[in-house]
Amino acid sequence: MNEIYDKLKKCTDVCRSITDFKPRVALVLGSGLGQLADEIQIEKTIEYKDIEGFPLSTVQGHRGRFVFGKIGETPVVIMQGRVHYYEGYLMSDVVLGVRIMRMLGAENLFLTNAAGGINRSFQPGTLMMITDQISSFVPSPLIGANIEELGTRFPDMSRIYDSGLQSMIYETAEQMNIPLQKGIYLQFSGPAYETPAEINMAEALGADACGMSTACEAVAAKHMGMKICGISCITNMASGRSEGPLSHDEVQTTADLTADRFKQLIKSCIMRM
Ligand code: HPA
Repeated sequence: MNEIYDKLKKCTDVCRSITDFKPRVALVLGSGLGQLADEIQIEKTIEYKDIEGFPLSTVQGHRGRFVFGKIGETPVVIMQGRVHYYEGYLMSDVVLGVRIMRMLGAENLFLTNAAGGINRSFQPGTLMMITDQISSFVPSPLIGANIEELGTRFPDMSRIYDSGLQSMIYETAEQMNIPLQKGIYLQFSGPAYETPAEINMAEALGADACGMSTACEAVAAKHMGMKICGISCITNMASGRSEGPLSHDEVQTTADLTADRFKQLIKSCIMRM
């Protein structure tokens, strides 16, 4: 028996013993968006700490629980708080939550995050729909014996972000008069913010925004056959793109200021999924 799969099944069983709720959409909330989970029609919550072996976030401002409920008519499971690779967890633990949500029945995955803006046309507060990603700077969550029950050894990643969901998100934003950019997200390991030289490298590689999460989750979810979409909130211009040092405070302040618009967009999109 594969240890990682064993743990996934045990954690899924714990959730199943608490609720038989079957989500259609899985939503991962990034910095500043946590409140969205409190605003839905909640049917059940499960604290991560009540799931033996589940990794707990060490970052301030990140809560730790699954929230089950409905947004409009769409049954959703929400990760209110995620863990990051820089916290010291194995990649298999970093993506455990996403895998559990898939095991619980979710077919669609909506990823959100706070990100640094690399594209010079962005500014703090810009929302960017993710069209593709670069995950080459962090280990793949699929390293190790392939778990056949989850997916194939060499999964295709040519279209991680579903084109139908992208069109739907773009149209929804347009109808709501919410400006929405598109771009490529690059995941760095963190926890230090990047150097200007690293940001110039990322730009040369084609990245529009960077952060410390998300891409690994998308790889694990794609492996399991999920339909994926994602939006980044550009909380700051990336290192070297603006004056002054980067700080977690700046990231959180912009995330909070943008949260209302971001939450409305996410909710309207999920109602259509
Ligand atoms: N770099 C990496 N991660 C981030 C940033 C950044 O500038 N802003 C928010 N998350």
